[in-house]
Amino acid sequence: MASYYIALSLHILGATIWAGGHLILATTILPRALREHRAAAVSEFERSFERIGLPALAVQIVTGLWLANHLLGAPGNWFHDNPIAHVIQIKLGLLVLTLALAIHARLRVVPKLSDDTLPTLAWHIRLVTVVAVLFVLAGASIRFGGYPAFGG
Ligand code: HEM
Repeated sequence: MASYYIALSLHILGATIWAGGHLILATTILPRALREHRAAAVSEFERSFERIGLPALAVQIVTGLWLANHLLGAPGNWFHDNPIAHVIQIKLGLLVLTLALAIHARLRVVPKLSDDTLPTLAWHIRLVTVVAVLFVLAGASIRFGGYPAFGG
């Protein structure tokens, strides 16, 4: 029970940092940077946010996998056709999307970042933010029994 409480608390704390940080970036820092045509405003925020945001994402992954194992047992069960497994499948899909966007931004977009290329990074930021919110919605659905069926 104690380890479940610790893992869930760390998971929720990580969610506030990851989703909250991206929402602040996407809704306040980014619009101003685009208006002022100043990519540096985004890089400055990202440099400070990285220090807490990346460890928070790592904590999400570790505690998320632990919680999935706690709820459903071995990873083989995570791909069965039941409402909780559907949520885990969605979360794993969102994780792949987040990592793909982060790697693409790091390797392709950030090295060429300038005031003129900021709109490309802006789309990455908006997408990662939407995915972060979807993570929260999927996570909270577990309390209601998960998603019964994909097809309705
Ligand atoms: C940035 C990524 C993530 C965010 C923002 C996030 C967010 C959340 C939130 C808000 C909850 C609801 C907690 C509650 O019941 O109050 C939750 C639950 C949960 N998440 Fe995540 N999550 C993330 C990644 C993951 C990953 C990668 C997995 C593993 C596949 C995962 C597995 C779970 C599980 C199993 C629960 C249910 C815990 C329980 O009620 O026992 N999460 N998540």
